[in-house]
Amino acid sequence: MVDLKGQYEKIKAEVDAGIQEVINTTAFINGPAVKEFQASLETYLGVKHVIPCANGTDALQIAMMALGLKPGDEVITASFTYVATAEVIGLLGLTPVLVDVDPDTFDIDVDAIVRNITPKTKAIVPVHLFGQCANMERIMEIARQHNLYVIEDVAQAIGADYTFSNGTKAKAGTIGTVGCTSFFPSKNLGCYGDGGAIYTNDEELAKKLKMISHHGQSVLYKHDVLGVNSRLDTMQAVVLNAKLKHLDEYAAARRAAADFYDKALANQPKLKTPVRSKNSTHVFHQYTLQLNGIDRAKLREQLAERGIPAMIYYPIPLHEQNAFKSDRFKKGDFPVTEKLCNCVLSLPMHTELDTDTLEYITKNLLELI
Ligand SMILES: Cc1ncc(COP(=O)(O)O)c(C=O)c1O
Repeated sequence: MVDLKGQYEKIKAEVDAGIQEVINTTAFINGPAVKEFQASLETYLGVKHVIPCANGTDALQIAMMALGLKPGDEVITASFTYVATAEVIGLLGLTPVLVDVDPDTFDIDVDAIVRNITPKTKAIVPVHLFGQCANMERIMEIARQHNLYVIEDVAQAIGADYTFSNGTKAKAGTIGTVGCTSFFPSKNLGCYGDGGAIYTNDEELAKKLKMISHHGQSVLYKHDVLGVNSRLDTMQAVVLNAKLKHLDEYAAARRAAADFYDKALANQPKLKTPVRSKNSTHVFHQYTLQLNGIDRAKLREQLAERGIPAMIYYPIPLHEQNAFKSDRFKKGDFPVTEKLCNCVLSLPMHTELDTDTLEYITKNLLELI
């Protein structure tokens, strides 16, 4: 699905030298590369504060802790997402309130958010799924009206640009109260292990985020609140520094591959290609088709026989997962999510796809459907 080796070959000299330097100087934790990355990402995103941390799941957890969310508070998020989003809500004793998603963009259904707000609602977590932003303009309006925090899960959409109706643009993750991202290796900006970051323009919140990610420590050995140990390794920061310089190029390569797929797979009654939202650029973390009247399992097998991987993101809706069993929701409650879980299929999507490979994938797919 990805070609991390091919991508590495192009930045090998910088990454290898940087990692060797970390070993030579033994600056394994909080070394200069971490600070450099933090500053470069702030500049790239146009955000005042980036707090690097150990992974995207921690980023979400630390954000919810820093906002002071308490057991019993309700947090609204999408039923069609990776488990991490809802997992941290549950872990902190908060109540995950799942809502359905839009059938075209796969992003959270804003009308469903409004229908699910109660006096206990404290936050909305839009997930910019597969690489394009949720409807942030409406979400921010709703949040202002109801005095709610907005925690953007931008694990899959780093670098995407959102355009408001007045023409203002902002990077995904910098619009809400706080943005949380992941640098898992296969992410659009991925390191060679685990990594994550939290972004905010709020000075006070930034201090709390930093403190919580460092054991609740304000100054060395003074612990003001309960925190966690969540740091970005210096070696991972070396990789991220090398890749951040190419992030827009990487997004362009992904978009070019998506354009190829769109064209080759257009006008096929059995396939729905991804819909691009009007207000967001798409950084194509995934290229996800919706199949119509196709035996998905059989198609995956046949593609695999021809050396073409294809993945199902995600096969089981969150509300049908044992971990999220609740009286609040049951099978049948989120028809769009349930339909998507049965019909989505993601094709290989990465920065190293060349025309021959794309031709091979689409020619075989069309033969098999
Ligand atoms: C939407 C979403 N949220 C959160 C995460 C969690 O990130 P991590 O794996 O770095 O903990 C991921 C990715 O894994 C994700 O895709």
